[in-house]
Amino acid sequence: MPTPLPDVPCCLNGEFSRVCDAKVSVLDRGFLFGDGIYEVVPVYGRRLFRFDEHLARLARNLAKVRIPDPHPREQWLRLCRELVQRLAAQTGAEDQVVYIQVTRGVAPRDHAMPPDAVPTVFMMVNPMRPPTAEQRHHGVACVSARDFRWERADIKSTSLLGNVLARQLSADHGAAETILLRDGFLTEASSSNVWVVHEGALLGPPKSERLLEGIRVELLRELCEEVGIAYNLRPIPEADVRSADELLLSSATKEVLAVTRLDGEAVGHGALRGKPGPVYARLYEAYQRAKSRQSI
Ligand code: PDD
Repeated sequence: MPTPLPDVPCCLNGEFSRVCDAKVSVLDRGFLFGDGIYEVVPVYGRRLFRFDEHLARLARNLAKVRIPDPHPREQWLRLCRELVQRLAAQTGAEDQVVYIQVTRGVAPRDHAMPPDAVPTVFMMVNPMRPPTAEQRHHGVACVSARDFRWERADIKSTSLLGNVLARQLSADHGAAETILLRDGFLTEASSSNVWVVHEGALLGPPKSERLLEGIRVELLRELCEEVGIAYNLRPIPEADVRSADELLLSSATKEVLAVTRLDGEAVGHGALRGKPGPVYARLYEAYQRAKSRQSI
């Protein structure tokens, strides 16, 4: 039996329908080239979390690949809210995930950018599937791999084959994520940012073209400041990942999540070895408090 497709609300070029009924042209450049940009916005209690930060990143990424931003902020907000209300009415889901994708549009197949294509705007909403209680309590296992993706991982592109291949390495091992290393330094994971805790400080790799500027990168800086945890972005050699006191993942859907095994080895030291640590616990609590404050 194939996995059933979700019957959730979507919006294609301004028209609302069920996601299983929406159709795009096979000449859409999103389909032919993966020529598009996307966003994933979490929703808590029917309100969009850090909406303006997500929208600003969408605009920055569209500009990087020269796709015009199809909507002003108010229209994006209106469309997102309409989807959220529709899913809540249909399923009662209060916590959701809004997916936004803008492709360069439909045109005859040619690598060069068509001068007159109209961007295709596809949006859908799904109930949020947060980490399970088991994953929260025990943390998750990850594997590591060489970061074999292209060198513009800062672009939140729908061309995700490198990320898909990376993710499958962990899926094949029953692990939650694949942590990527480029030239011996930590970049990120297949669909999350990665954090190392060292002597009580939260460390992440510096902003660069080699990793996505996750919305939680700035959020975690704010939460660290709020709860008094030192925060520093600096190059992180592989040895620092392997000897970390704690390892964390962050993403729109994982929020912050403790990694307690890497390549089969327990993470951390002493009594906390292989268990979610105190920095994780404090950031998780702070994150929960931020949800109501920062959602619109
Ligand atoms: N992934 N790095 C990569 C490669 C990602 O795909 C993501 C998010 C992140 C974390 O970014 P943020 O904090 O803005 O979610 C880092 C999303 C959730 C996805 O592709 O589904």
